[in-house]
Formats: sequence, structure tokens, C-alpha cells
Amino acid sequence: MEYKKVIFSGMQPSGFLTLGNYLGALKNWVKLQNEYDSYFCVVDMHAITVPKEPKDLRRNTLELLANYIASGINPDEVTLFIQSHVSAHAELGWVLNCITYNGELSRMTQFKDKSKKQESNAITAGLFTYPVLMAADILLYQADLVPVGEDQRQHLEITRDIAARFNNRYSDTFKIPDPFIAKEGAKIMSLQDPTSKMSKSDSNENSFILIKDDPDTVIRKFKRAVTDSIGVVSYNDEQPGVKNLINIYSKISGKTPDEIVSAYDGKGYAQFKEDVAEAVINELKPIQEKIDYLLKNKDYLEKIYLAGAQKAEIAARKTLRKVYKKIGFIPK
Ligand code: TRP
Repeated sequence: MEYKKVIFSGMQPSGFLTLGNYLGALKNWVKLQNEYDSYFCVVDMHAITVPKEPKDLRRNTLELLANYIASGINPDEVTLFIQSHVSAHAELGWVLNCITYNGELSRMTQFKDKSKKQESNAITAGLFTYPVLMAADILLYQADLVPVGEDQRQHLEITRDIAARFNNRYSDTFKIPDPFIAKEGAKIMSLQDPTSKMSKSDSNENSFILIKDDPDTVIRKFKRAVTDSIGVVSYNDEQPGVKNLINIYSKISGKTPDEIVSAYDGKGYAQFKEDVAEAVINELKPIQEKIDYLLKNKDYLEKIYLAGAQKAEIAARKTLRKVYKKIGFIPK
């Protein structure tokens, strides 16, 4: 049988996705899904590292699954599942906790950032060991590559360290995964401050586009997008606002930044923004319709996540069995 490399990635079910999540991650996964043996996960166990309302978590989990599928993830082709359905994640997570040092976890910048946002007496052990659970996610499937954003690079490094440490101590067990970080233009920036990443937690609603935004909202937000006073559509770091708009347009249209720049030669920003907005509206429309359809067909979603969990379980158990044996647990 032809061997395909394994990729694993996941997102937390923590509310509506942005255009940045879609263009920067999901659309990329869709491109990769046939070329690789792909595992895509809704990481609900990671989501509870900060307080979550149960009913919101339930809704967000199904919505995220619907977003994956509506964006083009093919559940027949990939293994699409919910993390908490495969108990091996928690089990391997525990084992890896026991070979991970406090010191290395204290250096995680995401932990430092996230714990700043919590009351100091509300920072949980789960938030601290978040990267260990993430390592378990990846290592269970012997992933070769992990498509993630630049912000996850440090988590990939600790995953590699943990895997190598286990392999050294107990003999070769885990594949050491590589980060798979798309280059230039992968990261979609805020429409209001193009030097920071587009994020739905931004206090200014005009800074992000949500996948669920209706056409009027999309048009309004692009109209207000921050540009500069140069007035020429060109692709460079002195014009980060325009550059971001070009990246968005490029990802959707498949045209290169150069092609876009020459198409707008002599035209102002107003026309360009209108065209970007229109492209985004057209891209999002079928996705929004599919999400609505899926969320009205919960039975179908259930079939998908049950089948996904079953497939994931087989691969995950195989790795966990080896791990348990190597560390000296008695097989039952
Ligand atoms: N930490 C990732 C994020 O916030 C989500 C995640 C959890 C993940 N487990 C993973 C990503 C495994 C890739 C692989 O984006």
C-alpha cells in the first residue's frame, strides 16, 4: 500500500471562526487533505483549560465541526473527530506529564499570555500542562507534520523535546513531528491594526471578519479597513494594511500579489476594497449555507464524528499500547 505522510491539526471550539482561521488554516488543510493521511480534531479538552459554559462548549464543538466540513474538509477522506471521544489523548497526556518538567512548561509564552488574562487564583494546572496534551494529540498518531500557525511553533518544539526524551529513555516509540508553517501571507492580520493578527477577541469588531458575517457587515468592515495615505495598491511592508488586503484577495482568488498589484495600477483603494469585500462575500456564501444545513442535520454530524472517533481510536490505541508496555505497566 502507498504510504502517505501523516498530518495532525486541531482547533479549539471557542466560538465563531474568523476569516483568518479560514484562510490561514482551514483552507490550507483542505489543500493538504488528499496528499496526506490527515487527522483533524476538535480539541474540546484543550478548550476547558479556561472556564467554559457547558452549553456554549457543546454548541461550539458542533459548530466547529460544521465549519470544518463546510470549508471543504472531506470526512470520507480524512479522520475528523472530537478529542474527548478518544480517551487515549488523556491517557497519553498523563504519561507525558510525567516526563515533562515544570521548568520547560514555565517558559511557554502562550501560557504566560493566557495566565495574564486570568485571575492568579484561577490559573489551572490544565492551562499549565496544555502543551503536554497537545504533544499527546500529535504523538498518538505518529504525525510527520503539524500544520499550525507561527504562534504554535513553541508548542511544536516542546512536543519534539518530549518525544525525543521518551524515545531516549524507553527506546524508539514516537515519530518526531515537524511543524508545517505556511510562509508569507498565511497570517491574516487585523483590519484595524495590520501589525497584529486578526482575532475575534479583539475589542474592536471592525478588526475581524467572521465566517458567519453577512454581506453588509463584510462590506462595512472592509470599507473601514485601515490603509495608509500613499494611495497606491502595492505589496510591501511600508503598507501593511494594503498588504493584508492583498493577501486576503490572493488567497481567495488564487492570483499572486503581483498580479493583483498590476490589476489595480492607477486605481484607488476604494475600488480595491470593494472588490476584496465582494470576493470574500462570494467565498463565504456557500460555506455559510453549508454550515446552516449541517447544524440542522445533527444526525449527520453525529454519524461523522462517531465514525471519526472509531478510526482515530484504532491508531491511537496502537501507540498507547506500546507506550504502556515500555514504561512498565502490566498489560491486561
Ligand atoms: N494549541 C492549538 C491552538 O490553539 C490547538 C491544538 C491542540 C493543536 N492540539 C493540537 C494544533 C495538535 C495542532 C496539533 O491553535
